Amino acid sequence: MEKQSIDALLLKINESATSEGNLRTKTIVNRIVRDLFYTIDDLDVTPNEFWTALNYLGEAGQSGELGLLAAGLGFELFLDLRLDEAEMKAGLEGGTPRTIEGPLYVAGAPELNGYGRLNDGTFPGETLVMRGRVLDEKRKPLAGALVEVWHANHLGNYSYFDKSQPAFNLRRSIRTDEAGNYSFRSVVPAGYSVPPVGKTQQLLDQLGRHGHRPAHIHFFVSAPKHRKLTTQVNIDGDPYLWGDLAFATREGLVPTVQHAEGSAGKPYGVDGNFALIDFDFTLSAERDSVPRTEVERVCAAGV
Ligand code: DHB
Ligand code: FE
Repeated sequence: MEKQSIDALLLKINESATSEGNLRTKTIVNRIVRDLFYTIDDLDVTPNEFWTALNYLGEAGQSGELGLLAAGLGFELFLDLRLDEAEMKAGLEGGTPRTIEGPLYVAGAPELNGYGRLNDGTFPGETLVMRGRVLDEKRKPLAGALVEVWHANHLGNYSYFDKSQPAFNLRRSIRTDEAGNYSFRSVVPAGYSVPPVGKTQQLLDQLGRHGHRPAHIHFFVSAPKHRKLTTQVNIDGDPYLWGDLAFATREGLVPTVQHAEGSAGKPYGVDGNFALIDFDFTLSAERDSVPRTEVERVCAAGV
């Protein structure tokens, strides 16, 4: 079809509005529809292909996999890179790198002071202790910062979504102590994979891509008057470390996993060998010149 005819059609659709609506929504939707009309025309998308795609999105929504798709198709990474760019332009650099939230956060995890245990010890897994401080831009420790942590179990599954785990297993919120310290005891997570017969994997197959993420631990780190940090650390040595489904591995987020033993575990009630990660988080002060980092995103709320 002639581009002019497409544009005329788009104009007709836009001009059919009988009330003002929302200007921002109109601008975005009109642009997306235009881009899709062009795509359909340029690529000669057949009616069957169009309806297959629409049904696919409906089913992905029904099975709760749209968030997985957003990560797997790189949208979450892209939004992060745009925030990075905005911060760089505003001269804001040097904090802990951000990386994606992913679709598996659950609100309402138990809050603990300074130190917490993320598991109840009834499930297998290599013991992990992670500890460090929350610092401001001048490396001054931030007391009372909140470190929200969540990760998969030894099989790569997340509590709440995996009903075999207790409520809030491997999910806690830890307040830093007066010296800005946090620490927790948990188990070393395994890498996560999208549901093997789900809608995301179905599309990944068509794209010739795998659905695996390297083992990782998620964090929201927040403190008053500071920019909320959404990030992850990766477990070094994972075969998918630099081949992540969601492209979320970044330099600076792959701490050394130390092998600790003996009395080193005493403060955490650990006997024998365990994995130990030391990691400090650095937050930037809130500024008006850059978009805020809190996002409104529907997530599950546990009980
Ligand atoms: C996905 C899963 C995760 O655990 C994560 O952190 C990010 C994305 C996903 O399934 O797309
Ligand atoms: Fe995850």
